[in-house]
Amino acid sequence: MSSIKKVKLGNQGFEVPVEGLGCMGMTTIAGQDIYGLADEKESIATIHRALELGVNFLDTADLYGPLLNERLVSKAIAGNRDKYLVATKFGYEVGDDEQLTWRINGRPDYVKKAIDRSLKNLKTDYIDLYYLHRVDPETPIEDTVVAMAELVQSGKVKYIGLSEVSAQTLRKANLIHPITAVQTEYSLFERTVEINGLFDAVNELGVGFVSYSPLGRGFLTGDIKSPDDFTANDFRRSIPRFQGDNFYKNLDLVKEINILAEAKNITPSQLAIAWTLAKGTVPIPGTKRVKYLEDNIAAADIVFTVDELTHLDSIVPAGITAGERYDETSMSGVNL
Ligand SMILES: NC(=O)c1ccc[n+]([C@@H]2O[C@H](COP(=O)([O-])OP(=O)(O)OC[C@H]3O[C@@H](n4cnc5c(N)ncnc54)[C@H](OP(=O)(O)O)[C@@H]3O)[C@@H](O)[C@H]2O)c1
Repeated sequence: MSSIKKVKLGNQGFEVPVEGLGCMGMTTIAGQDIYGLADEKESIATIHRALELGVNFLDTADLYGPLLNERLVSKAIAGNRDKYLVATKFGYEVGDDEQLTWRINGRPDYVKKAIDRSLKNLKTDYIDLYYLHRVDPETPIEDTVVAMAELVQSGKVKYIGLSEVSAQTLRKANLIHPITAVQTEYSLFERTVEINGLFDAVNELGVGFVSYSPLGRGFLTGDIKSPDDFTANDFRRSIPRFQGDNFYKNLDLVKEINILAEAKNITPSQLAIAWTLAKGTVPIPGTKRVKYLEDNIAAADIVFTVDELTHLDSIVPAGITAGERYDETSMSGVNL
């Protein structure tokens, strides 16, 4: 294994590489492409290469597929389970027919059902980090976290996390059981957590912060030049940031950021990932290609000067990105 740096995520002793690997794009979700066409063979090769390079922290969810992503991950880690740190998530309800109902379910009885299904899918008897994917507005967060804490007590889960929660929900949850990590979208294009109190809360409570979509779902890589760069079925077509005038306004920001990447002799993706590292978070850039994984891992060694960080702040201050990061329905489920 390479010597990629490690960091403690949260205050419970969970040690992870400074960046992980996001696996969402390795499968479709309910038949929809996420980031272009999935490719199982290359995805598995990417998960194998990640381990060789020390990036053994994998991020999946029962939502992805649904269930197919966990199954792909289980195939990739077979024989090496103990060498990987596997994070998965539950909450988007998956019915007994293995289809999504598109409800959020955080009820204690569903927590028990979801964990057993994830363990079966991943062919393992424990999950390293188990997240609630979205808060169930109908179930008090305390009830969900009590059920998650029972999974820690029974050994099915080592650490627990929450995704896309508000500071207030995190504080309530953390009183029930220590929360090891919050996972929320964070990147040069998505800085809301800096101003809505969530960053303050994680710092105060000693909760780790995992940045998802650190590449702005590919926008910050510099490879996307037109809203038609996506397959007809690509999830990004539904995101306001990738539509119409918003797309071109955001592309102008990408061009400005990329001038700095060029001056530093690094790729735009490396710059975007290194920035989330400089902010003290653990990014989980998503890719299904060995080539991109290797590019992204090199970001772990990049350091910014104070002037460079100030310059980036001036180009992309919080709130400047045009358009929301999700459609209206999905936006109503974040920061709850
Ligand atoms: N908790 C949540 O609600 C939530 C929501 C979204 C995501 N996530 C997690 O966060 C992970 C990461 O976020 P994400 O995958 O949404 O977005 P991301 O990491 O911001 O971007 C992924 C996109 O960037 C491309 N890419 C990656 N590295 C590249 C490189 N070096 N050069 C050029 N292109 C590159 C990928 O291409 P290829 O796909 O072609 O490799 C893909 O299109 C996900 O995989 C998932 O595990 C969690």
